[in-house]
Amino acid sequence: MILLDGKKTSNDIKDEIAVSVNEIKKRGEKVPHLAAVLVGNDGASLTYVGSKVRACERVGFNSTLIELPETTSEERLLKTINDLNNNNEIDGFIVQLPLPKHINEEKVLLAINPNKDVDGFHPENFGKMALEMDSFIPATPFGILQLLERYQVETKGKHTVVIGRSHIVGRPMSILMSQKGPAANSTVTLTHSYTKNLSQITKQADIIIVALGIPEYLKADMVKDNVVIVDVGISRVPDESKPKGYVIKGDVAFDEVSKKSSFITPVPGGVGPMTIAMLLKNTLIARERGGNHS
Ligand code: GUN
Repeated sequence: MILLDGKKTSNDIKDEIAVSVNEIKKRGEKVPHLAAVLVGNDGASLTYVGSKVRACERVGFNSTLIELPETTSEERLLKTINDLNNNNEIDGFIVQLPLPKHINEEKVLLAINPNKDVDGFHPENFGKMALEMDSFIPATPFGILQLLERYQVETKGKHTVVIGRSHIVGRPMSILMSQKGPAANSTVTLTHSYTKNLSQITKQADIIIVALGIPEYLKADMVKDNVVIVDVGISRVPDESKPKGYVIKGDVAFDEVSKKSSFITPVPGGVGPMTIAMLLKNTLIARERGGNHS
């Protein structure tokens, strides 16, 4: 069993990005600048956004964190987005999800200038991604592709089963794994809550990508020997014995499934750090494109 070490790989990618930033500085050009908008004070979102800002510092990017109260109106948030769209200092920005219930998420994502949409959630980017055109690939799927590629996991002609059809992970992942290119060319099955006999399908999988949000859902009796496992889950499970009062669990019962795996991502330290590294990569791409989307 080989661990797909997202912590190490993301550090390698951040080092590569830092080299590019130094070259940008040497040429006397503007360094990339990422902004993040956080509405409300959801604990997990605060943690993720904090990590994104720290990662910017680590690679030499500028960053701006815009924190808005939970009660922020949709109109106010749309105004903030419009300001970021028009601010030439900002190369890319994200609006951290989920948003409070009174705000229409679709309206917010549509308001983001696709050339600055480093999360790749705008329909223009999603459509371009699906058509294999230059776009911003959503950071989590992009990170998974990078992990598979850098560990030289064979995906060509393999049966990849994706569990979960979210717009952020499952759906784009299923598209990307079926495309041409490195870490792709798979035969893909996308499964979801209405899928019948899921374990019959997962038992036929060479690669399983689980993005469900149900702690330790995937068990050893659902997979075949030598399977490749990518675990996207990060659930906070209450545990009073821990200083924070919770432990982080993935969607995979790691101890039992890892024994049958050829490659597996740990949680934490697998997909999570890769997401942040690829958000930085997308911001660097946005800077290099200079607002001109090809
Ligand atoms: N919430 C969970 N994952 C993400 C992400 O990748 N981007 C944003 N903006 N919000 C998220």
